[in-house]
Amino acid sequence: MGKYNFDEIIERKNTNSLKYDWAVKRGKPADVLPLWVADMDFRTPKEVTEALCAKAQHGIFGYSEPAEGYFDALTAWFEKYFGWKPDRNKFVLSCGVIFAICNLIEILTKEGNGVIINQPVYYPFSEAVRDNKRKLVVSELKYAEGRYSIDFEDFEKKITENNVKLYILCNPHNPVGRVWTRQELERVSEICLKHNVFVISDEIHADFVYSKYKFTSYATLGGEALKNAVICTAPTKTFNLAGLHNSNIYIEDDGLRAAYIKGRDKRGYSQSNIMGIVACEAAYRYGEEWLGELLTYLEGNVAFVREYLKEHIPGISLVEPEGTYLIWLDCSKLGLNDRELNDLVLNKAKLWLDAGSIFGKAGNCFERVNIACPRKILEEAFDRLYNALKEAGKV
Ligand SMILES: Cc1ncc(COP(=O)(O)O)c(C=O)c1O
Repeated sequence: MGKYNFDEIIERKNTNSLKYDWAVKRGKPADVLPLWVADMDFRTPKEVTEALCAKAQHGIFGYSEPAEGYFDALTAWFEKYFGWKPDRNKFVLSCGVIFAICNLIEILTKEGNGVIINQPVYYPFSEAVRDNKRKLVVSELKYAEGRYSIDFEDFEKKITENNVKLYILCNPHNPVGRVWTRQELERVSEICLKHNVFVISDEIHADFVYSKYKFTSYATLGGEALKNAVICTAPTKTFNLAGLHNSNIYIEDDGLRAAYIKGRDKRGYSQSNIMGIVACEAAYRYGEEWLGELLTYLEGNVAFVREYLKEHIPGISLVEPEGTYLIWLDCSKLGLNDRELNDLVLNKAKLWLDAGSIFGKAGNCFERVNIACPRKILEEAFDRLYNALKEAGKV
């Protein structure tokens, strides 16, 4: 065992956890096992908790701004992990990535303009487009031989046919687990520059990339590609800090950065949460060893699921994840329609997963499972699924 014990089961019930305490309020049975929303059942590194405790002990929570040390830790992280040397002055702090995306949609597009996404994809993307009264344009990912890719021909066609001004890229891609290659990103950039489509690159899952794969930040394309993009980064998935609402949005273009700040301020959000600032700096400064062990543990969880399905539930296939702790299960060969599948998962297996269909209709008959939990919890989840399928005569 390493220095960190990710097998430890930490009680999260009765902690005001959205994942553990909101089942009944959200219309689910009380006894569901939750593996849905993207936060982890692991404690953040102790250095982060210590930094937060020290701030709490001080007892004064006045307005705050990130100082130089914050940007030192942030930029060192990106340089070390992604070979990207960001200019610290081009980061803007925001409360979250979805806030940033909404702000950017408003600045970069007008009502009725097209915004393109690749479904199945993280569902708040489509909500952000619709809520801001833009036209949602979907270019579905291609799914062949168990792997997803961007259908570039369709992507370009949809752009030209729908007055598309903005593309929201998800890299690594939630929920299908692709980590886009440099070559794929270059193709994206080529098409987007050709048709004047601005790119938002949501890289919130960038630190979760499995050992055979390599993450390429859109920022490292540099030049015109980077000028035509905003890079959304955050420590919140990596270090389990989602409730602290901290994100660092990189905006290369000076005019756009000024407009972004104005848009952010217009919503009355001009200062960051002091605890978010403290946690982010400590995480990037001290979190490396913890993250290394966490990735190994998660890779073990992926291996567990792979073997379990092969041995016990061959009708479900794992879409091999290249990144993220959200795995995507292809349940289309079980002989259940989407409604029957979701009913079995929730009411028979008593599992609270994210039904694939919420990520777009291309997600019908898929389920997304959050594997960032101790292996024992994962074992219980898959045993529940197996037993429900057995009772239904599906295994
Ligand atoms: C791709 C992606 N973007 C953004 C978010 C949410 O980010 P935030 O909480 O910073 O708005 C998530 C959360 O799961 C996500 O998966």
